[in-house]
Amino acid sequence: MQAIVCREHGGPEVMRYEEIAQPQPAAHEVLIKADAIGVNYVDIMRRSGKHPAAPKTPFTPGIEVCGRVAAVGEGVARFREGDRVIDRCVTHGTYAEYVCVEERFTVDCPEAISADEGAALFVTGQTAYHALITVGQAQPGEWILVTAAAGGVGVCAVQIAKTLGTKVIAAAGSPEKYDVAQSFGADAVIDYTEPGWPERVQQATGGTGANLIIESVGGHVASSCVQCWAAGGRMVIFGKASGEPAIVSGDELLFGNRSVHGLAVGMVIEDETVMREAMDRLAEWLTEGRLRLHIGQLYPLRDAAQAHRDLASRQTTGKLVLKP
Ligand SMILES: NC(=O)c1ccc[n+]([C@@H]2O[C@H](COP(=O)([O-])OP(=O)(O)OC[C@H]3O[C@@H](n4cnc5c(N)ncnc54)[C@H](OP(=O)(O)O)[C@@H]3O)[C@@H](O)[C@H]2O)c1
Repeated sequence: MQAIVCREHGGPEVMRYEEIAQPQPAAHEVLIKADAIGVNYVDIMRRSGKHPAAPKTPFTPGIEVCGRVAAVGEGVARFREGDRVIDRCVTHGTYAEYVCVEERFTVDCPEAISADEGAALFVTGQTAYHALITVGQAQPGEWILVTAAAGGVGVCAVQIAKTLGTKVIAAAGSPEKYDVAQSFGADAVIDYTEPGWPERVQQATGGTGANLIIESVGGHVASSCVQCWAAGGRMVIFGKASGEPAIVSGDELLFGNRSVHGLAVGMVIEDETVMREAMDRLAEWLTEGRLRLHIGQLYPLRDAAQAHRDLASRQTTGKLVLKP
């Protein structure tokens, strides 16, 4: 089969399109023939070797796929050959025509959604869901500030937050990007490359600031979020796309009764019940039209390196999808 293989960690150029052996499912695994493969920011971090869970070389990147079950390993009870499914690998493996995935991270693909949308659902949907609900405890009427709001997770977060009855401020790196977030329902939009943007959040919220901050950029953006954070507010930190960690002083927490929470979705979805409940609600919102998956761009699998270049250089909106 054809697959992307990284024989060393490094820049996008280390991703080679090669012929490798098709894997065989072990016990409790399903073999998936991919129809569409999701690209996630974490794939870039793991390819570069800068992620704590970067795989050992050689490896095939990617953690998300939508396709059909081609074979099942011993002990697999829920799925059989031909089923249309969405899958998530723990650290790598999906940038390929076939991939073996644990049955526990396999879910049915709702009939209403295409393979491209299916490849965009699991990681972004689960991340936005758990940031807002499981960890962030978003409440109706609250102001939610979403950073990187036009990205894969961001567009999902904006829509889920609206579905929960909150008011959303979408913050992104250009007017073109915040226009995208607005088209998915954001109540107010901010370009955080402009100086003084936290003041605009204060104005939008009538001076109280954001009650819940959904933060994935880190560095200066995270530090600025602190300047427009309501008393009693929460911040959920789940990424650092800038490469710099978020730094929040203890005084901001102490003198405002605020709290910061980390979110590693992989740890949350180790609880299969929690993962499947979230997936059921995401599927319900999709079916009802309350959640739309924004596919920013499709690429042939062989062009995965270009997809990484575009995502890393902030040129994309929504989710990028590879086609085998
Ligand atoms: N903790 C978890 O379990 C978990 C799970 C999934 C995803 N994540 C994180 O969630 C975030 C979103 O993931 P995604 O796949 O949907 O990516 P994405 O949001 O589509 O892309 C990343 C975005 O970050 C912003 N950004 C700001 N500074 C940047 C910089 N210096 N370089 C690159 N991007 C920069 C860009 O938006 P602007 O141009 O608008 O600033 C860019 O489009 C990522 O940080 C990812 O690592 C975490």
